Amino acid sequence: MPCSLTILGLESSCDDTAAAVVNLPASGRAVVLSSVVVGQQNLHAAFGGVVPEIAARAHAEKLDYCVEQALARAKTALTDIDLIAVTAGPGLIGGVVSGVMCAKGLSAATGKPLYGVNHLAGHALTPRLTDAVPYPYLMLLVSGGHCQFLLVNGPDAFIRLGGTIDDAPGEAFDKVARLIGLSQPGGPAIEQTSILGDPRRFIFPRPLSDRAGCDMSFSGLKTAVLRARDKVIVDKGGLTQQDQADLAAGFQAAVVDVLAEKTRQAFASYPDSASRTFCVAGGVAANGAIRSALETISAENGARFIAPPLALCTDNAAMIAYAGAEQSQIREPDDLTLSARPRWPLDNAQAPMLGSGKKGAKA
Ligand code: KG4
Ligand code: ZN
Repeated sequence: MPCSLTILGLESSCDDTAAAVVNLPASGRAVVLSSVVVGQQNLHAAFGGVVPEIAARAHAEKLDYCVEQALARAKTALTDIDLIAVTAGPGLIGGVVSGVMCAKGLSAATGKPLYGVNHLAGHALTPRLTDAVPYPYLMLLVSGGHCQFLLVNGPDAFIRLGGTIDDAPGEAFDKVARLIGLSQPGGPAIEQTSILGDPRRFIFPRPLSDRAGCDMSFSGLKTAVLRARDKVIVDKGGLTQQDQADLAAGFQAAVVDVLAEKTRQAFASYPDSASRTFCVAGGVAANGAIRSALETISAENGARFIAPPLALCTDNAAMIAYAGAEQSQIREPDDLTLSARPRWPLDNAQAPMLGSGKKGAKA
């Protein structure tokens, strides 16, 4: 980077409204000066998924507050900001529009350059923000709305090795938790409950594991849990805590096995390099069993394993600010015609993945 940059980032593509200030010194590592995230989970809880209209309104209401808080916590004035970066897609269109409009207003009022950033690029570049990982690196992005293996060659150079053809794993964790009577978000609830469970009592399918390549599928797994649950209820008249724990453990073991096998396949297609690094990001990367399986496979392949701190794995605006800074090194800013893109694949050379989960359009 030629000179120090202070970037204001905005994120509003799903159910978290976020703003952050990141400083990128002329040399050395980026510093997250502030990162404010206001979740909307309580607004959607009664509906069993994110309601786009409610999300868009909540983003519009909370963006100004997030920006003010982010600037105050960073002890930075808007006039000290060098550029404004905003998620311009993919995601729920109403939320993305709220963020883009807010960023355009700030840019028009201050004259600061504006960069529309791909939300997935934000996740994919996070290992550079947190650990200054050099290009190229292999990445698994695994959250409530996304699941893909990427080879990251540059700020705008991604090769998608494969991804889910239906649900994202976080979505499956959430749905399975609901099916077996656990709380939301389902991921932490299933992980916790699994500790007391026997993963061998219910052997669930490992979809697409026997197929070459990195594509994955999680929706059949969810249906298999539903069938097993129904059978227990028919046989015993209900679910005991042990049944819940065994179902949770069996499901988690299947997800771990699928992600582990597909990570092996991803390594097989990763060009040999002296500095192999495998990074994971997204809310599901919080899962201890998944992390440790991925760490083991990295070690088997002689790769460094990087999992950013959870607050930067899940949706946040610091990753958007950082991605905006990288964009500013390779292209001119966007102008006020910047528009929201509900679908925006990282790897344009490939057909978009199918499906649109509860957390919005997949790319
Ligand atoms: O990245 P994130 O905060 O939001 C997006 O989806 O963009 O990820 C949230 C997802 C939820 O589906 C949640 O159940 C899952 O991450 N999750 C977990 C764990 N913690 C959060 N899944 C499995 N194990 C966990 N410990
Ligand atoms: Zn995300």
